[in-house]
Amino acid sequence: MKTISLTIDDRRITAPEGEKLLWVALDKGIYIPNLCALRDKPEPAASCRLCFVEVDGHSQPVTACTEPVREGMVVNTKGPKALRLARTGFELLMATHPVDCGHCAKNRSCELQKIAVHLHAKLKTKRFKKLERKLPVDSSSSVFIYDPNKCVLCGRCVWICRERLGIGALGFAHRGFERVVTTFGDEPIAKSQCQECEECIRACPTGALVFKDGEKT
Ligand code: FES
Repeated sequence: MKTISLTIDDRRITAPEGEKLLWVALDKGIYIPNLCALRDKPEPAASCRLCFVEVDGHSQPVTACTEPVREGMVVNTKGPKALRLARTGFELLMATHPVDCGHCAKNRSCELQKIAVHLHAKLKTKRFKKLERKLPVDSSSSVFIYDPNKCVLCGRCVWICRERLGIGALGFAHRGFERVVTTFGDEPIAKSQCQECEECIRACPTGALVFKDGEKT
């Protein structure tokens, strides 16, 4: 693949032409908030709306997970328009997310905490009305706990389980505020096709999927 050069935040960088901007930036140690992207997923869902960046020649911010890099591209990951969009997306997300980090197994390794620091945003937003779900926690697996209340619907676990591993124990159900990641027939995990391979737990960016033995991911 042809190598091209581009500029991200005033840093001159080389990368394979066509690689998605998100992975190029992350590989060079330039953090861009992201939840729904997976490197081996050919078609990014671009559903979390957190990876906005500004690119010279574009009148509006673009999502870094869908934007291919090209020769001479000039990218600003900290432009005001991009940050405003990312902050709004993050605050909307946090409006439905329980914030009880002190009691969460993912505390200090949660992607939401990292994003909040990066965006200078608060985990407890006052901008939007808090709408918490009160869904039952599934502890039926011998390996992990699934708390759908902490799920941000990024879809990483669903895609890995179905597409990467071909198991298909997890999927999305319902729409809008009711949307949830669940098993077929909404059965407890232990009664589903789950093979406890642990891949979903390692991919989960929040405390929705955590090991019972306390292992950190
Ligand atoms: S990582 Fe780009 S929209 Fe989610």
